[in-house]
Amino acid sequence: MKSAKPRILIADSDKKSVTLLNQILSAEGFNTIVCETGSAAWQAFEKHEPAIVIVDWVLPEINGLDLCKKMRADPRGRHIYIMFLTARGLRENIVAGINGGADDYMVKPFYAEELKARVRAGERMVSLQKQLLERNTMLEELVYTVTHDLRTPLIAMDMTAQQATDGLYGELPASYGRILDTTRRSLKDLLGMVDNLLSVARYESGKGAAANESCSILKVCQECMSELSPIYSRKNLQVNLTSNAQEVQVNVNRRDLRRVILNLLDNAIKFTPAKGEIRISVELAADKVIMQIQDSGLGIKKEEAKQLFERFARAKSTRHAPGTGLGLYLCRRIIEGHGGVVDCIPRPSEGTTVSFLLPVSNQK
Ligand SMILES: Nc1ncnc2c1ncn2[C@@H]1O[C@H](COP(=O)(O)OP(=O)(O)OP(=O)(O)O)[C@@H](O)[C@H]1O
Ligand SMILES: [Mg+2]
Repeated sequence: MKSAKPRILIADSDKKSVTLLNQILSAEGFNTIVCETGSAAWQAFEKHEPAIVIVDWVLPEINGLDLCKKMRADPRGRHIYIMFLTARGLRENIVAGINGGADDYMVKPFYAEELKARVRAGERMVSLQKQLLERNTMLEELVYTVTHDLRTPLIAMDMTAQQATDGLYGELPASYGRILDTTRRSLKDLLGMVDNLLSVARYESGKGAAANESCSILKVCQECMSELSPIYSRKNLQVNLTSNAQEVQVNVNRRDLRRVILNLLDNAIKFTPAKGEIRISVELAADKVIMQIQDSGLGIKKEEAKQLFERFARAKSTRHAPGTGLGLYLCRRIIEGHGGVVDCIPRPSEGTTVSFLLPVSNQK
């Protein structure tokens, strides 16, 4: 089935030019919307979400260049095709137009066949972008469905290994016990990865911080520490938690707060050599709480620190270590989704401090 022709918005105040454009484009089967001012064009853009925009430079109210920048800055205008059609043909105008977000630039008076060819090129671009976005969504859905379906067998395998360790299937030789421990650790790593991916998907689909509840940050932190204690004990790491408060309640999705703390602790453990130290502090300051996880590990280069909160970002020096580069990204999404901020303070040759700040809840 042939897909419908994209809608074209024409922003031009010159009646003659508009009539001609309309004739040419209608004959080609396009639906056009004509606006004579910049603000009318902006309103039409918001209402009709056209795929292609042909804009003149000189327009009343909002000029063509500002209109182009405004549309490009809007999420709905990120993938549209914008073309200038204007009498302003100086090189600096062309450069400014394209730098302002336009995909193409034509100077009036125009030649009909050239206009048609360029609009067709725009149509091809729009259609390719659409296909790419659709494929991307499909792939993401596939990844998340597979990831989700992995959870149940992983939990079942972990339970079976736990039962075997507990002697439910009879006494096991010591070497089997060690194998089971290693297997369970790997299963936990896989489950952590699966849970990170699913949480990222939830935040990216806008359903992130919906279910808030008041929970104790100290309790959640202690739970995470005891969950990871077999791993840091094996590395002989000293892990200490200190706080200037007995109790700190935060209004967050408990499961998400656990993911943040587990990810930050996991990093500190992973990137700190044996016999090192990890200090966790929870400081209450007025209506905020600041949690810091400070390790004596490899450290992070100052210039790399900020970008590590981006998707799939990993420092050059740690590419050998296992991981996907999603942990810190997820921490940022969760903390920002709950009105907080994350930060990373590199302490060259001393280790790393990663911290986050959250508003404190009033509920007890
Ligand atoms: N405490 C730390 N010390 C040194 N480097 C760190 C520390 N925490 C994070 N990093 C750097 O930041 C990168 C991104 O961390 P992030 O947690 O997002 O990903 P990861 O640990 O590599 O993988 P995963 O998705 O399994 O968490 C790490 O790969 C590492 O380079
Ligand atoms: Mg990590």
